[in-house]
Amino acid sequence: MTACANYPGGELPTNVHLLAQTPQLRALMTMIRDTNTNRNDFIFYSDRIIRLLVEEGLNYLPLVEQQIETPTGLPYHGVAFQGKICGVPIIRAGEAMEKGLRECCKGVRIGKILIQRNEETAQPELYYSKLPSDIAERYVLLLDPMLATGGSAIKAIEVLLETGVHEDRIVFLNLLAVPDGIDAVLARFPKLRIVTADVDPGLNEKKFIVPGLGDFGDRYFGSS
Ligand code: URA
Repeated sequence: MTACANYPGGELPTNVHLLAQTPQLRALMTMIRDTNTNRNDFIFYSDRIIRLLVEEGLNYLPLVEQQIETPTGLPYHGVAFQGKICGVPIIRAGEAMEKGLRECCKGVRIGKILIQRNEETAQPELYYSKLPSDIAERYVLLLDPMLATGGSAIKAIEVLLETGVHEDRIVFLNLLAVPDGIDAVLARFPKLRIVTADVDPGLNEKKFIVPGLGDFGDRYFGSS
């Protein structure tokens, strides 16, 4: 269990992994939370956090023992990644995390899911998805920077499960999460793993994370 002051009870559920709150990470999060950070810097510092999230997410994928020989001619008993992976950004903000994944995983397959809120029902609806045909055999890194209400994530995970992906093979990466979003997603998908860089206390009346960092997609893609 990981201690987390903003999560009720002070400890995160076992399948929620909070990045180590190092001085580096705290400074990076401060940069992207700051309303005065310009777009270039927002992208630069977000990308650094995304790299940390991807590296941590990869730790939850299976390994096999592997013995290799080093240039000294001696054996080294190591490990190798086992299993194929696929990144699935939830469009649009999740696409900001694609580059960090590609930098860590050469040639990684990428699927896409677009979820939008139906203005009449207020329910998240699937607008588009394009996933590798063999996704059911893959481990999936689901990418969305902000876990707020959890509505889009739940819809996206439903789509993945419908295509045959195993729930316990999905690792959901985000920069910022709130307890209600975490609880909503895990109530539906208890075998899912979540890796997040920080947890904020809650949402405001517009469903923005507070104190948060504003609209991630607008700040990253410059569309505000
Ligand atoms: N999406 C964002 O970009 N920001 C929030 O605070 C919540 C959802």
